[in-house]
Amino acid sequence: MILNIKRTDYCGELSTNDIGREVSVVGWVSKRRNLGSLLFVDLRDSSGIIQIIIKTDEIEVPDIRNEYILNVTGKINKKDVPNPNLKTGEIEIDANEVILVNTAKQPPFIIADKTDALEDIRLKYRYLDLRRPALLNNFKMRAKIVKICHEYLDAHRFIEVETPYLAPSTPEGARDYLVPSRLHKGSFYALPQSPQLYKQMLMVAGFERYYQIARCFRDEDLRADRQPDFTQVDIETSFLTQDQFLTLMEGLIQKIFKETINYDVKLPLRRMKYDEAVNVYGSDKPDTRFDLKLVDIKSIFSNSTFETFASAKYIKAIKVENFAKDCSRKKQDSYNLLAKKFKLNSYMIVKFEGGALTGGIIKHFSEEEQKQLISTMDLHENDIIFIAHSNILRNVNFGLGALRSEIAEELSLIKPHTYDLLWVVDFPLFEKSEETGEITPCHHPFTRPVDEDLDKLESEPYNVYSYTYDIIMNGYEAGGGGLRIYDQETQDRIFKILGFSEENIQKKFGWFVESLKYGTPPHGGMAFGLERLTMVLCETNNIRDVIAFPKNLSGVCPVTNAPVEVDEEQLKELGIKIDK
Ligand code: AMO
Repeated sequence: MILNIKRTDYCGELSTNDIGREVSVVGWVSKRRNLGSLLFVDLRDSSGIIQIIIKTDEIEVPDIRNEYILNVTGKINKKDVPNPNLKTGEIEIDANEVILVNTAKQPPFIIADKTDALEDIRLKYRYLDLRRPALLNNFKMRAKIVKICHEYLDAHRFIEVETPYLAPSTPEGARDYLVPSRLHKGSFYALPQSPQLYKQMLMVAGFERYYQIARCFRDEDLRADRQPDFTQVDIETSFLTQDQFLTLMEGLIQKIFKETINYDVKLPLRRMKYDEAVNVYGSDKPDTRFDLKLVDIKSIFSNSTFETFASAKYIKAIKVENFAKDCSRKKQDSYNLLAKKFKLNSYMIVKFEGGALTGGIIKHFSEEEQKQLISTMDLHENDIIFIAHSNILRNVNFGLGALRSEIAEELSLIKPHTYDLLWVVDFPLFEKSEETGEITPCHHPFTRPVDEDLDKLESEPYNVYSYTYDIIMNGYEAGGGGLRIYDQETQDRIFKILGFSEENIQKKFGWFVESLKYGTPPHGGMAFGLERLTMVLCETNNIRDVIAFPKNLSGVCPVTNAPVEVDEEQLKELGIKIDK
């Protein structure tokens, strides 16, 4: 064993320019092949992999196994047969000294980019999983994005400010993670769901342009693009219109795409109204890389004798070209599971085969209705349409939107390495809570209604739009934000509509409302989800691929087993009794 490591170069950075040089490298044994007197070792460090050739009858060689750490010195030679799978595949190091730096237990899975190890086991031994070059590259990408954000925002007068993690609970929508206070038994901090109210107070303070690479904590159901602790590139500015702000953010996006993957983002980005996104793509985060648009067909059936359609307020359809024959019964059943999630009975299916419509429900359609359906949906041989109907528009839209995404994935309708960036703008200010049926803010209660709708606030609250925007990348909500209310009168009206009592306001965020009374500038901002941005640029659809130590789907950290039970003593200090 040695402590004095010799290193002249990093494995992955050597190239044919180095042929003939004597180099020293250090790294982990990624692969070894023993051909009698020749031992081939692939050595891996944080930069990549290089092949070492060791002539075992010429030099002293320690016992070498996978994941042992070696310090190798030798000459760079050109390889007779290049390995196209390695960046350094045209060269190898002809070793004249091989020193064993450390041994390793046999890893529970093979550490290579392509692995069939289950994610559970990979997450348990995450430090080994992270040795896989593809994963390491994701973290290099993530770090680069952060660096670009710092550069861009610094160049545009932004000040980086940290805000507390031990904070009060604020109205952000998800459930809070609570932290009990020892000094104030029975009182709790909440880990911030975002720095929202702090950053607004920084605008009151006159900072004008704030940013923070901020950790956020939300106790919500996990999904492939959601983690309980995640990171935002959080931004707030004063005195800008929505357009000015979006333009400033587009500059950042353009720089990130250019400097990470050398992709030219064309500006300005498309701006799609929320209503169009939902009505045409069935989603508030539309992926417009493929068509399959939702078509309103209610008018075709306005005089229908088919009771189901006659009584449905909304009927819409999507067409999938050339899919009628391949859409088996089994597939239809699996789609219908999706339909149920959106409170639809099923997707009704109509095919266009042999020049005519086919399907169980056709018998309910008049000749004229059939004709109109064929022309409205522009049907050709072997096309299929999926119809959704309901008295709730949201269910029809989102139900078809989910099917749209599923079919696009299944039929590989999305070209790889393509990027689809757009803003969804003009969200409604309020929505009806699905749980309580009560009026709730779509974003948060400090979001500014658009000026033109101010006089409809009380009379038609659901028809009031807001200065809000989400940035959508390949169907992911990669960020979102809005302009905020800065005048007391509008804020009071919104609180009243939401049914917040004075007492409740004071208790929940009186401190914040008070701050707005001291000369609040017009302000607004947004937060990018750093992981979502990284996912898009790394072309992965699993958020865990871009988080070093992620939680699994049940919210557990498989490396540390957190959350874990704590000592009785600790609980006593906090005045907490556990009721199992
Ligand atoms: P919002 O709640 O939309 O806005 O969050 C902003 C962005 O953060 C990302 N994100 C997440 N990423 C991973 N896991 C999660 N659980 C998760 N939740 C959100 C998304 C999302 O677009 N304070 C406001 C921003 C503002 O108005 O300025 C906010 O937090 O990419």
